[in-house]
Amino acid sequence: MNDRISTLLKREPSSEILTAEGWVRTKRESKNVCFLELNDGSTLKGLQIVIDKEALDDQELLDSITTGSSVIATGTIVASQGQSQAVEMSASSLTLVGACPPESYPLQKKRHSLEYLREIAHLRARTNTFGAVTRVRNTLSWAIHQFFQQRGFVWVHTPIISASDAEGAGQMFQVTTLDLANVPKTGEGQVDWHEDFFGRQAFLTVSGQLEGETYATALKNIYTFGPTFRAENSNTKRHLSEFWMVEPEMAFCTLEGNMAIAEEFLKYLFTSVLEHCTEDMAFFSSFVEAGMSDTLGRIIESPFVHLTYTDAVKELEKYNDRFEYPVSWGIDLQSEHEKFITETIAKSPTIVTDYPKEIKAFYMKLNDDGRTVRGMDVLVPRLGEIIGGSERESDYDTLVTRMGQMGLDPADYWWYLDLRRFGTVPHAGFGLGFERLVQYVTGMANIRDVIPYPRAPRLADF
Ligand code: 4AD
Ligand code: MG
Repeated sequence: MNDRISTLLKREPSSEILTAEGWVRTKRESKNVCFLELNDGSTLKGLQIVIDKEALDDQELLDSITTGSSVIATGTIVASQGQSQAVEMSASSLTLVGACPPESYPLQKKRHSLEYLREIAHLRARTNTFGAVTRVRNTLSWAIHQFFQQRGFVWVHTPIISASDAEGAGQMFQVTTLDLANVPKTGEGQVDWHEDFFGRQAFLTVSGQLEGETYATALKNIYTFGPTFRAENSNTKRHLSEFWMVEPEMAFCTLEGNMAIAEEFLKYLFTSVLEHCTEDMAFFSSFVEAGMSDTLGRIIESPFVHLTYTDAVKELEKYNDRFEYPVSWGIDLQSEHEKFITETIAKSPTIVTDYPKEIKAFYMKLNDDGRTVRGMDVLVPRLGEIIGGSERESDYDTLVTRMGQMGLDPADYWWYLDLRRFGTVPHAGFGLGFERLVQYVTGMANIRDVIPYPRAPRLADF
C-alpha cells in the first residue's frame, strides 16, 4: 500500500520517488505549470501536485483531469514555494484513473449548503466538513473502547432484534416477515404471531441495557456499543430513528459512582479528540462553532455541576416567562429547559438527578421519598441531554410494583426480574448517545450531519 497523503505531507524533501493517490479537489493551470490539490480523506489538507507541463508534455491528459477525478501521481517530495504548505509533490508521471465529468458532478468548488449535501449523502464524505466529521467520529469510537478497556470493562454484544421493550416506552420498530396483505389471524381475529418468523412479536432494540445488566451481574463491569432504534415521531435536530449508543453497566455501583464515571468518560473523550484530531477541531472551531476546542479545553478542567430535578425546577420556574413550555414540578424537562440549565443557570455541563418516577423508566431505583427515582441526565450547552442513566431498582418487589404502575406486564420481563431473585446487587449504568456526542464535539447543528446515512421520520434514503 502506498502512503496516505497525511503521511506524505509529513515527509522531508528528498529524491525518493513516491506515489500519491486521491481525488482532485482543485486544478490550477498556467502556461508552464499545472497544480492539482489531491485529497484522500486522511487529512483536511490535500497534497499539492506540481506538474511541469514541458516535462510531462501531455495537455490532453491535463485537460481530462477535473475536480472529482481520481488520480495517481508519482514524483518527489519537494519544499513548496507556496505559503500554505511546507511540502508538495513534483510529479514525474500522472495517471488519470477515473474521469469525473464536470457537467454532472454534483460537488463543485463552491461551498454547498448542508441541506443540499444531505441529498447527495453518497458524495458528501468528499467535502472538508464531512471528512472531518468522519475522522472525529472514528477517533471517538476508538477512544470509547480505550476508556473502557483500560478500566477492565468487558464489551458485550447485545442483540439488535429483541422481544423486550427496554425503556417500556412503546417506541419500537417491529420486525416481521408476515405478508402484510394477508396477515394470519387467530380464531379470535387477532394477528397470529406464532406464524411470524420468530414465533412471537419481535422488534429492533431501543437499548441494550436490560441484556447488559444480565452480563454486569456476572462480569461486574461491562459496556455495549452498537446501533439502537426508536420509532418516535421526533423531527428535531437532535433525534434520529437509528443511532448508536454506548451503555456501560456496573455492578456494586450506586448513582454516585455512575455520575463519577460518566463525567470522567466525557472528559476522556473530549481530551482524546483534542489530542488526535487537532486539525479537524481547528476547522470546526473556525467554521462551525466558534472556539469549540477552547470550550472543550475549559470543560475538561472544571467539575460538572450537580443539581437535583427539584432544585432545577425551582431555578427554572423563575424564568417561566422565557419558555414555550412553562416549568412546574412533575413535568418532563424539554430541550429548551435543559439548554437553559447548562447555558444560563449552571454555565457548565450539568448532571440532573432524582427525577419524578412518573417521567422516567420502570427500572430506575425508587428513592425513599417514594416520589423520585435515582435517575441522572447529563446535560450540555447547545444540545441538552447527552447521557441518560440511573441506579437500577435492585429490589424484586419494588420493581414488580413499578412495572405494574407503568403498565408493563412483569411476565414479559421474567428473565430481567430473575437478576433480582438470584444474588441481587446495587448496580447502575448510563447510555451516551453517540451522535449527540459527535454533534456536541464538532458543533454541527443537525444530528443528521454527524452520521453517514441518517434515518428519521420519512427519511431512509440511500
Ligand atoms: O435516555 P435514554 O433513552 O436512556 C436509555 O436508553 C437507557 N437505557 C440508557 C442506560 O441507562 N443504559 O437514551 C440514552 C441517550 C440519550 O441521553 C441521548 O443522548 C441518546 O441516547 N438518544 C438519542 N440520540 C439520538 N436520537 C434519538 N432519538 C435518541 N434517543 C436517545
Ligand atoms: Mg433520556
